Amino acid sequence: MKKNNVATFAKMKKNNEKITMLTSYDYSTAKLVDNSGVNAILVGDSLGNVMLGYEDTVSVTMEDMITFGSAVSRACKNAMVVIDMPFMSYQISDEQALENAGRLMKEARANAVKLEGGKEVCSQIRKITSAGIPVMAHIGMTPQSVNAFGGFKVQGKDIENAKKIVEDALAVEKAGAFAVVIECVPADLAEYISKKLTIPTIGIGAGKGTDGQVLVYQDMLGMFSDYVPKFVKHYAKVGNIMQNAFEEYDREVKTSAFPSEEHTFAIDESVMDEIKKSFQN
Ligand code: KIV
Repeated sequence: MKKNNVATFAKMKKNNEKITMLTSYDYSTAKLVDNSGVNAILVGDSLGNVMLGYEDTVSVTMEDMITFGSAVSRACKNAMVVIDMPFMSYQISDEQALENAGRLMKEARANAVKLEGGKEVCSQIRKITSAGIPVMAHIGMTPQSVNAFGGFKVQGKDIENAKKIVEDALAVEKAGAFAVVIECVPADLAEYISKKLTIPTIGIGAGKGTDGQVLVYQDMLGMFSDYVPKFVKHYAKVGNIMQNAFEEYDREVKTSAFPSEEHTFAIDESVMDEIKKSFQN
């Protein structure tokens, strides 16, 4: 099977096929996602929350994205790897944006980069794409701007804000983005945008009318309990399974039930006898 790429995304939109994306941040998880048929893996800066325990994504660095991103890239044979540009790695200038996008391609082996924002980041999108680097845009609720929003809130509920989101979508498409994530906006608005754009829309908390969906894997597996957004569905309760396993391990070690013979290496009795003789028991 050929690795998913920007052409796969365009073809799937044209054929009305839903596109799937999940986050991953490490080699072992990315291998499982890569084997599942999911079209793209996002190394999201959500790693700040779910991997590093920050309360938002503001502190995530380029080095964090390169460390986690390159682990994911090494695992992927099928899924397209999209790596997030962290806060303040593209806002300062077009040149800074291109340099950092280039690092994610060269050092972390991304297949595309993602950045947050609408009209205000179009010149960065133009600059990065002009160097042959595919850009996924991200509009609606953009977590890096949590301080400007005054919290993680649904966007686009009033006329002015909804109009701004439509304009942002049209602007990032025109600037050259190959796809756009739409986060936390009302379903009807996301569906309207999806029909208006020629590039695929990937929704998260944006209803079923988008061209694809993305979720953070710890959310959909029930592994992250600090908060559970309304749009998250638990496809498995992996958090409970892990908790039970950790507790069982703790119990078994403390009662000497683990390790048993099957998990233990044997040595010839004569060797042990010699050792004991040499050390006077
Ligand atoms: O960082 C991330 O995981 C994201 C998704 C929530 C779209 O941007």
